[in-house]
Amino acid sequence: MKTIVFYHNKGGVGKTTASINLATALQCLDYRVLLIDLDAQANATFATGLVKFQFDEEDDIKARNVSHLLESSEFHFIPEIVRRSQHFSKPELDIIPAHVDLIEKQDKLNKYITTRTRLHKKLKLVEDQYDFVIIDAPPSRDVYAQVALITADYLIIPSDLKPFANQGLPTVRQFITEEINEIRQSTGKDNLKILGILPSKVSTNPRYLDYVFPRQKNTVIEQYGLPILNSIIFERTALSNCLNQTLEVGDLLYPDPKSIFMFDSKSESAKEFTKLAEEVLHKVGMN
Ligand SMILES: Nc1ncnc2c1ncn2[C@@H]1O[C@H](COP(=O)(O)OP(=O)(O)OP(=O)(O)O)[C@@H](O)[C@H]1O
Ligand SMILES: [Mg+2]
Repeated sequence: MKTIVFYHNKGGVGKTTASINLATALQCLDYRVLLIDLDAQANATFATGLVKFQFDEEDDIKARNVSHLLESSEFHFIPEIVRRSQHFSKPELDIIPAHVDLIEKQDKLNKYITTRTRLHKKLKLVEDQYDFVIIDAPPSRDVYAQVALITADYLIIPSDLKPFANQGLPTVRQFITEEINEIRQSTGKDNLKILGILPSKVSTNPRYLDYVFPRQKNTVIEQYGLPILNSIIFERTALSNCLNQTLEVGDLLYPDPKSIFMFDSKSESAKEFTKLAEEVLHKVGMN
């Protein structure tokens, strides 16, 4: 079982979009995948169709979500928290959901260092059931980001390679080398392996691609010393449209988000995510 986290401390760079669609791409290639939402914004939970109701009381995600896995080593294990995505992909994905309530629980979970390693220990108990665990992390350095980065074997950093995103890269690296790897070492884990930066939300403008993009890539490699993946996720309307699908039931409109593979399996974006899956398989030694 290989665990991959998508993380950048810059918001809106495409972490959630990449997590849910890489998870689906790997599942379409017949790998068994578990997606974990560790962000209090619960975007991956929403995007996989688990939040259908308009009212809190009709929703049981508050009662069973990823925070319950972190609260105790003796209670709440993955089989009782995991859900299947809803009309999101074929086959559907297994997902550990998040809930906005994670914000409330943060201070309590932050107090104990043991919180950080519980997810890793609980995943070990299901390691025969999954080939990949994909974690969608928050754009912060909070306890959930720490859990995500301590649990994973590999890190992918989605970035549009523009200056604002680049300026966050030294902070990401410092967080990993000074905090995350130290905790990992104290629990006998290897350092987090950086698979690379994933160019994400990249403009398809030919002039940009010919002149600016190559320079931006060189800047990241030379100035920040981080590897860049060969795969590119371009900015395409299909990729945001597939998450904005709705379903009309009587007078009500319900959210009905789709993976890019269910929305349009022949789209350029679907091909880009299949390429990313193949590159990841190669880089983690699975083919
Ligand atoms: N390749 C893309 N093409 C078009 N739109 C995209 C692409 N990637 C992401 N988006 C859109 O950009 C917005 C931010 O994407 P996303 O939620 O994946 O970023 P994020 O890094 O997870 O954000 P946050 O830091 O808030 O968790 C969303 O509206 C999403 O639909
Ligand atoms: Mg996100």
